[in-house]
Amino acid sequence: MNKIGVFTSGGDSPGMNACVRAVVRTAHKHDVEVIGIKEGYRGMVAGYFETLTSLDVAGIIQRGGTILRSSRCPEFKTKEGRQQAYDNCKKHGIDALVAIGGNGTFTGALYFEEEFGIPTIGCPGTIDNDLFGTDYTIGFDTACNTVVKAIDQIRETAASHNRLFLVEVMGRDSGFIALNGCVAGGGEAVMLPEQRDDLPRLMQFLDEKSQHKIYSNIVVVAEGDEAGGAIELEKVIRKEYPQYDVRSTILGHLQRGGSPTCRDRILASRLGHHAVEALLKGERNMMAGEINNKVELTSFRDSIEKTKALNSDLLQLSEILVA
Ligand code: F6P
Repeated sequence: MNKIGVFTSGGDSPGMNACVRAVVRTAHKHDVEVIGIKEGYRGMVAGYFETLTSLDVAGIIQRGGTILRSSRCPEFKTKEGRQQAYDNCKKHGIDALVAIGGNGTFTGALYFEEEFGIPTIGCPGTIDNDLFGTDYTIGFDTACNTVVKAIDQIRETAASHNRLFLVEVMGRDSGFIALNGCVAGGGEAVMLPEQRDDLPRLMQFLDEKSQHKIYSNIVVVAEGDEAGGAIELEKVIRKEYPQYDVRSTILGHLQRGGSPTCRDRILASRLGHHAVEALLKGERNMMAGEINNKVELTSFRDSIEKTKALNSDLLQLSEILVA
């Protein structure tokens, strides 16, 4: 293997740069050249290819975002788009790929590998932590820390005004950020896509609280919850619980930014390194993840199709630790 391509795709996540750095430096230790493909699949289709030297990845481990930039690319969903991407890879002599991203990235990689046979290893880069085959995804820890910091700050104003705050967090269809953010931020309740009956439970909880005239609470709401997010929930509470002075805060894309935590940098470095080693051993079509502190490979298909369950201990804790 003489040359590999590396790209970041889908929603960026803190630690992607640390992962790119590990890919480049591990490859160079084996005298393998690295091409950075800019803007994910969009750049693969359009031909945004650039050689990456070890110096190009110096001083990036602490930076959020991705120096390779990212995109969501509809063209790659078409056969013609993927053909164009393949032709570009061949033109640049690319023998194998490292794909850093989430669900959509690995779905694309799976199709691409099946159609054109370029060996690909994925590294899970998404704040959502929704990929099977890894305990944590790159960027999740940083995003949770951002959420906790925000909750700490919101709690001060919530308590001062005796207000109920709904804090909406990202995670798409999964509640990992919400659950972890709620437990670590000491939230009073959490609304999760994985729990179909959480609205009646929240209402019961508010009933009990209001009997004791406790109005200042923090409820963490996962964006994918069936209640429809913080704004929708606020409308329901205003109508049914007028005694609550309720406010919503949507944390949004600020959860995707920021310097990666130590944990994310180490995870990203380990997985980026392992991805290259795996390619050199002839592995393909797999995601490198960390399970019980060991790096393991899981097929792309399993990583995107199997469901990763929320940690049941944490779920219980989120209910036990409420005053
Ligand atoms: O998958 C990462 C994520 O941040 C999700 O949590 C969120 O739903 C989505 O991406 C937002 O996507 P975009 O940045 O394209 O609006």
